[in-house]
Amino acid sequence: MSLQKRTLLKVIVLGDSGVGKTSLMNQYVHMKFSQQYKATIGADFVTKELQIDERNVTLQIWDTAGQERFQSLGVAFYRGADCCVLVYDVNVIKSFDNLDNWHEEFLKQANPTDPKTFPFILLGNKIDLDGGNSRVVSETKAKDWCASKENIPYFETSAKEDINVDEAFHCIAKTALANE
Ligand code: GTP
Ligand code: MG
Repeated sequence: MSLQKRTLLKVIVLGDSGVGKTSLMNQYVHMKFSQQYKATIGADFVTKELQIDERNVTLQIWDTAGQERFQSLGVAFYRGADCCVLVYDVNVIKSFDNLDNWHEEFLKQANPTDPKTFPFILLGNKIDLDGGNSRVVSETKAKDWCASKENIPYFETSAKEDINVDEAFHCIAKTALANE
């Protein structure tokens, strides 16, 4: 029996309203998806326990509001974050164009010791939509953006069809742990 301590990792999920932040978390933690949209107000977290390289890890995943009028997060909220997950919708160009703002906002608020090495992850969500026919951001374009930001890992996901959700959060946990 190992009495090894659990490592708590704080993860913050940011991105435009409606891109699927809450849905991705619900799929990952509760294995549930709802077609209905209910805007997140303020911020709330869910936890998930997992093992990474034989270490017991608790992911504390903070869901935030994409809608500006529901954002009321102070600097204290961002402090102590171990990883920031940026989400956009591959079918909505604006959500991709806004990534720079979310990235900048996080760095401004969290003010990590070394902004260049702070772990971010990018998720391009809703790849299932219209069988991929309504897609407006290519994988190449997304990867180029990641390359321009110190090589952020990138995953294409569907919260609805449960595509790459586990894989993405596993990478998030691993990346956050490495930065611990
Ligand atoms: P805010 O809380 O306002 O910031 O939005 P959000 O980013 O949390 O988005 P949310 O998870 O609430 O999803 C918005 C809408 O998109 C909902 O109607 C979801 O059902 C839908 N949705 C989320 N993920 C997917 C997906 O992967 N595929 C499809 N087809 N729809 C999705
Ligand atoms: Mg939400």
